[in-house]
Amino acid sequence: MTFKDLRAFLDDLGNDLLHVSQPLDPKFEIAAVLREMSAAGRPVLFEQVLGHPGTRVAGNLLASRRLAARALGTSEDKLFDTYARRGAQCIAPVAASEIPAQEVVHRDPPDVGALLPLLTHHARDAAPFLTCGMVLARDPESGMRGMGVHRMMYKGGRRFGILLANPPLSVYLANAERDGKPLDVAIALGVDPAMLLASIVKTGPLGPDKMEVAGSLRGAPVELARALTVDLDIPARAEVIIEGRIVPGLREPEGPFGENTGAYFSNQSPVIEVSAVTHRRDFIFPALVPWTADVEALLALAGGAELLRQLKNQVRGVVDLELVPGTASFAAVITVRDCPRHEVRRLIHLALNLDRRLKVLTVVDDDVNPRDPREVAWAMSTRFQPARDTIIVDGCEGYIIDPSSAGGDGSKIGFDATRGTGSQFDKIDLPSAAVAKARAVLAELGFASG
Ligand SMILES: Cc1cc2nc3c(=O)[nH]c(=O)nc-3n(C[C@H](O)[C@H](O)[C@H](O)COP(=O)(O)O)c2cc1C
Repeated sequence: MTFKDLRAFLDDLGNDLLHVSQPLDPKFEIAAVLREMSAAGRPVLFEQVLGHPGTRVAGNLLASRRLAARALGTSEDKLFDTYARRGAQCIAPVAASEIPAQEVVHRDPPDVGALLPLLTHHARDAAPFLTCGMVLARDPESGMRGMGVHRMMYKGGRRFGILLANPPLSVYLANAERDGKPLDVAIALGVDPAMLLASIVKTGPLGPDKMEVAGSLRGAPVELARALTVDLDIPARAEVIIEGRIVPGLREPEGPFGENTGAYFSNQSPVIEVSAVTHRRDFIFPALVPWTADVEALLALAGGAELLRQLKNQVRGVVDLELVPGTASFAAVITVRDCPRHEVRRLIHLALNLDRRLKVLTVVDDDVNPRDPREVAWAMSTRFQPARDTIIVDGCEGYIIDPSSAGGDGSKIGFDATRGTGSQFDKIDLPSAAVAKARAVLAELGFASG
């Protein structure tokens, strides 16, 4: 199933989409409802936003594996494979025949905050932040198109701060600044979920155009149109587009902002001056609350699925990978089958080096469910010996939003909690006939088990 835009996906959600009709404040209240519904994986549409009549806000759209699978038109068990297979292919974008994203045009808007329901998420956030803007730019050196999700702090008027800690956009800005030139950017808000996922795919410096990856992930070419005030193409079916330029050489305080790590983070960051805001007549504004299941689903696909694909190619016996919820993908559990101890050690070194963010890795056998913290703790308690089974890698780059490294040097750790050899490591069990009988008896008494 292909969703041509955000609203096609919302229509498909039907009764799963919770409609909130009470007017809510974009300052804290919308984020609070989304956070409450995040663990239940419930998508929400806010019908009324205080101060912004006629505008709706949608969030928690990928807040479970089920929703992420639905967004890609696949089943939960095929999610990682589908994502990895489609993410490695390309479908070129086409020129749009209609441009809903430009139905309403505001050139040089004096007050972007009056036009858009910019959300404030956490108690000590310095200002409203855009958290799921798909930022589009072009490398002034190679002419290549690139995109990524980058947090943006609203500074009043038509100025935003932008955290550019990751390639490719951080590299494009460095290339523009070397010549003292501004970098044109366009921020697409409210795109179909597969396109949002494509924007955070790890393609590497020589990788394919993410717009082409987006076409493959969504199963149909992205429709592009020219932006009005910058030299870029924009997705024509987005809900809102912000156009502007990053001022060369300028850095200003940005944050504090409650990050995907669950901690506040401040930075000296570049500044965008907005040249236009365009949107659909009845636009739906997207929300993504940091440190919730919504973010974790994005990270699991963009980071986890990709790492699993690479590791499966390198080490025999790798079965599954789970990024630990709540850790901003700094911690992961990998399961292996029949993997000798020396191969587990090679796997740990490989995984910790392949992924810049991964800091704490636990490897368990495939009789352990990597998504069940109790089972992982059991493997650590019964199959793992700290002095024998720990690998520490020092002298690594600390990830910028990790408060424990504060952007300086970091280190990484791997735990081999696999059974090695020996029957003393087997999990206790009951004969399967007894388990089946117990379940049948309990089912008759009205208890679903297993
Ligand atoms: C929810 C979310 C928020 C992100 N916020 C930022 C950000 O504020 N600044 C940044 O430089 N990168 C951010 N990223 C990562 C970039 O989008 C990044 O370019 C993308 O993940 C590509 O992967 P790479 O980091 O391996 O190049 C974010 C990613 C996600 C999933």
